[in-house]
Amino acid sequence: MKLLITGATGLVGSILAQKALSLGHEIHFLTSQKTKVIQEGKMKGYYWNPSLNELDLACFEGVDAIVHLAGASISQRWTKKNKEEISLSRINGTRLLVDGIRQLDGKHQIKQVVAASAIGIYPSSFEMIYTEDYLPKRSSFLEEVVMDWEQEEDGFSSAGLQLVKLRIGLVLTETGGVLGPLKTPTWFGLGAAFGNGEQTQSWIHVDDLVGMIMTAIDKKWEGVFNAVSPNPVSQKEFTKTLAKAMRRIYFLPPIPKLFIRLVVGEMSTLVFNSQNVCAEKALKEGFVFIHPELLPAIKSLL
Ligand SMILES: NC(=O)c1ccc[n+]([C@@H]2O[C@H](COP(=O)([O-])OP(=O)(O)OC[C@H]3O[C@@H](n4cnc5c(N)ncnc54)[C@H](OP(=O)(O)O)[C@@H]3O)[C@@H](O)[C@H]2O)c1
Repeated sequence: MKLLITGATGLVGSILAQKALSLGHEIHFLTSQKTKVIQEGKMKGYYWNPSLNELDLACFEGVDAIVHLAGASISQRWTKKNKEEISLSRINGTRLLVDGIRQLDGKHQIKQVVAASAIGIYPSSFEMIYTEDYLPKRSSFLEEVVMDWEQEEDGFSSAGLQLVKLRIGLVLTETGGVLGPLKTPTWFGLGAAFGNGEQTQSWIHVDDLVGMIMTAIDKKWEGVFNAVSPNPVSQKEFTKTLAKAMRRIYFLPPIPKLFIRLVVGEMSTLVFNSQNVCAEKALKEGFVFIHPELLPAIKSLL
């Protein structure tokens, strides 16, 4: 099979690309960095620039399925300019792909699209358990970004393709992601909860996320799926478990909410939001998580 991956140079995309290659698939990928447009073995890069509407239609040649992951990082200060980039990179990138497919006028063999979304579509709550049938509202910046992004992704369905939207939780990887910035302080015994630490964090090991993407294509899933492990934990539990996995002591009092907000600004909502998200739909489809529990999941990455 030939896959077209956007965001293939990123945290998730690079691991997905390696996995797909190891399974014998061919890969086309789109990058917004000209220096990364390379061809190596079964992997071939194409340049695109969503903000300028530039896309090389050759990227679709022979492609069976698209995995759309590209979007500016949300882990940057939420200035007016950055917020615009976070939102527009997703809207423009998705629209450009849909328009590109439409321009092919049916002369392609693409059948499926697996598109990234995020659990940020669910409002922070200490009571709710979120399943895919929750009806989202526009009550925060994140909810708005993800709703606009998903709405744009519906264009793939309108273009006649089978669409899966994966609402991704906090991705655990060896480098970067949520573990990256937490590992160093924890190593020095300086790990601490954020705020009261009671907020629920719905996480997923990157191998399970990649597995879910490949399964979605393989088993022809359709619709919205929460891409989270079946065992979300509180933020306090998360930092404690990381310390345990690293065999470090955990004794510091929680870091006050106000302090974190002063340091990182509005983006601090990312660590204070509580989202208890349920993986029921993937489980019902028979998806088997390799890393359903947090402690072994973290240990596998250290
Ligand atoms: N990691 C998580 O915990 C998490 C959680 C929930 C949802 N997600 C979503 O899952 C997707 C993949 O996550 P990730 O962690 O792998 O992201 P990432 O490491 O930040 O990579 C995203 C990729 O998007 C491309 N990109 C960045 N800015 C862009 C722009 N302005 N226009 C077009 N492309 C741009 C980049 O590729 P090029 O530089 O090659 O163009 C980059 O490699 C993202 O959409 C993210 O929002 C991730």
